[in-house]
Amino acid sequence: MDAQVKAATVPPEVRGAVFTTCVLAALAGLMFGLDIGVISGATQFIQAEFKVSDHMIEAIVSSMMGGAAVGAVGAGWMSAVLGRKRSLLLAGVLFVAGSLFCAAAWSPESLIVARFVLGLAIGVATFTAPLYLAEVAPEHIRGAMISVYQLMITTGILVAFLSDTAFSSSGNWRWMLGVIAVPGVLFLVGLFFLPDSPRWLLMRGRKDEAQVVLKKLRGDDTVIAREISDIEEQLKTRQHGLSLFLGNSNFRRSVGLGVLLQVVQQFTGMNVVMYYAPRIFKDMGYDTHAQMWFTAAVGLTNVLATLIAFAFVDRLGRKPILYAGFAIMATGLGVVGTMMHLGIQSHGEQIFTVAMLLVFIVGFAMSAGPLIWTLCSEVQPLKGRDFGIACSTFTNWAANAIVGATFLSLLSGIGNAQTFWLYGALNALFILITFWLVPETKGVTLEQIERKLMHGERLRNIGR
Ligand code: BGC
Repeated sequence: MDAQVKAATVPPEVRGAVFTTCVLAALAGLMFGLDIGVISGATQFIQAEFKVSDHMIEAIVSSMMGGAAVGAVGAGWMSAVLGRKRSLLLAGVLFVAGSLFCAAAWSPESLIVARFVLGLAIGVATFTAPLYLAEVAPEHIRGAMISVYQLMITTGILVAFLSDTAFSSSGNWRWMLGVIAVPGVLFLVGLFFLPDSPRWLLMRGRKDEAQVVLKKLRGDDTVIAREISDIEEQLKTRQHGLSLFLGNSNFRRSVGLGVLLQVVQQFTGMNVVMYYAPRIFKDMGYDTHAQMWFTAAVGLTNVLATLIAFAFVDRLGRKPILYAGFAIMATGLGVVGTMMHLGIQSHGEQIFTVAMLLVFIVGFAMSAGPLIWTLCSEVQPLKGRDFGIACSTFTNWAANAIVGATFLSLLSGIGNAQTFWLYGALNALFILITFWLVPETKGVTLEQIERKLMHGERLRNIGR
């Protein structure tokens, strides 16, 4: 209600600026998702054309995440020195170049390099876009903006799965990988209409420009004056992340928690399904056509279940949703493993196993998918937030690369059933980790969390 009232009193030109920012949020999330999703449908055709081993496929899949890890580290520095907008422009250019390079790859090795470049782009964008959004969005839509971003990640994955399905009849993997340059170009065009972040301008001592930007984004002079003095106040206490990390054990704990949370998110095994779904459906006995459609069903389930998280996260809190999510994931994967162990023969058994895999997807999308990102930004103290988030974003991609680079080897090394059981068991372990280490941050201000953290309170108690 309050947000509606405020939104209604916002002048039209300001609403235009806010709308453009939302579109950027949507496109950045979409690119993240497209990048994750696009490879799954392409691997079998790449393998057929280049006649390469499973190990080479793992390298092709995971080089993108390796690039993203490097990009996320570089982005912390770039977004401070070059600014948020210029970093995003660079990410956009690399994204378009990387996707076209993928489409034109002439050997498996060149495809690895192309995916690494694409990864660099997405690493920079996944760090910088949420940071920029949090800085330019007016307070009353900040939460919604982050939700839009999350939802668009899953939409991007779905769109990539659908586009792969459309191209799969011709087997043209080059089109699958190349077509994502189109949203990249839209993203680049959109960026030209966006202002620099007012917070970054103030960090660089460019107050006059910050005022002009805020006038466009907020309209109201009192709101602008208050925001400028708030930012200036925050900037006074700002320290360099690394020196804070070295000198303050409480900050090391929150950085460690952010890193651990991202390891947990990736080792749920979600991206095993995102990258190798068609292969998993093949092992269940489905032909190429069915594999692609079931993969699309995975993508759709992922989008829909993300909405469940939005509906409940501020009502039930973070921890209950994480408990439920990990329990559902452990069960889903445990059953998929057991079905593979027993041997999937009848049509009914096939469908049941697919359904259990979808149950696993629901478990992730309603919990760890969106919530880990939320928690990672909530637990860092203001002084070291950029550094803390850069560390956890780096970990997200590094752990993602490990998961992507080992799945096919696990299948051939320990077997299908055992691989799914392994991930199922990890999800059961994450219930305990949530209990021991994760704070409940629902309804608590960031200042309260920071105060408790810096007073040495146990991590699980820094929230409520
Ligand atoms: C994760 C990605 C994952 C996606 C799936 C995100 O929160 O960070 O690694 O592919 O969710 O929806």
